[in-house]
Amino acid sequence: MTAVLVTGADRGIGNALCRACHGRGDAVIAACLEDSDALRALGIRVEPGVDVTSDAAVQGLAGRLADTGTTIDVLINNAGIAARDALGTLDYDAIRRQFEVNTLGPLRVTEALLERLRPGSVVAFITSRIGSLGDNLSGGLYGYRISKCAANMVAVNLAHDLAARGIAAVVLHPGMVATDMTFDDERHEARPPEDAAVALLERINRVEPGEPGTPPAFWHAPARTIIPW
Ligand SMILES: NC(=O)c1ccc[n+]([C@@H]2O[C@H](COP(=O)([O-])OP(=O)(O)OC[C@H]3O[C@@H](n4cnc5c(N)ncnc54)[C@H](OP(=O)(O)O)[C@@H]3O)[C@@H](O)[C@H]2O)c1
Repeated sequence: MTAVLVTGADRGIGNALCRACHGRGDAVIAACLEDSDALRALGIRVEPGVDVTSDAAVQGLAGRLADTGTTIDVLINNAGIAARDALGTLDYDAIRRQFEVNTLGPLRVTEALLERLRPGSVVAFITSRIGSLGDNLSGGLYGYRISKCAANMVAVNLAHDLAARGIAAVVLHPGMVATDMTFDDERHEARPPEDAAVALLERINRVEPGEPGTPPAFWHAPARTIIPW
């Protein structure tokens, strides 16, 4: 049975990923910032209180997994936040907060769970096309763009270290998804989280073992195209 751990599983894409993995027979660990009785009711192992910005919370998760001898085949770094902002009224605390969650969060989680991963495991990073340097044609969204761009570097850097352990990495854009994160004026073109989960898992399933010295790809999962860094 494949063991999958998803961060930010309370709602949105992370919640849909947990349900999809559970539905296909995986052993799912839903790491929630708060909690999820709904996932627990499905028989999913819910780990509440996993704030990816907290060393204590993430180390606590790692300790509980170690205590139960749990290893992870697929780690999905999904937790994220987004704040709309504009030049002239930037809120630097909000930018720092996005950096803490979106950039340092996946680094902290992956480092803490290193010993729970095995050769053949896959670590997925759900960043965003909005973090692409080459695809940035509009400006704006400073905090989110900066934090997701840096998250891509976290993922590429980790991929090199993980490859040395036989662990693969992949960087994923889920498309525009109708969640609480999506801004109202974007909703019309957004897909349901369930569809995004299917596309993300399809791409994760295709990940090849990491080759030392070869960076991972940055995939637009539903479009099945590569996004420039
Ligand atoms: N929606 C899109 O169109 C879109 C596009 C590109 C990329 N993404 C990325 O996809 C991922 C999931 O986004 P989403 O659309 O599903 O957003 P969402 O509905 O807002 O869900 C975000 C999830 O992250 C959790 N979270 C927030 N801060 C956290 C923290 N400090 N520690 C742990 N978990 C935390 C939230 O928990 P609570 O529910 O308890 O707050 C929630 O479960 C994010 O990384 C996002 O940047 C989304």
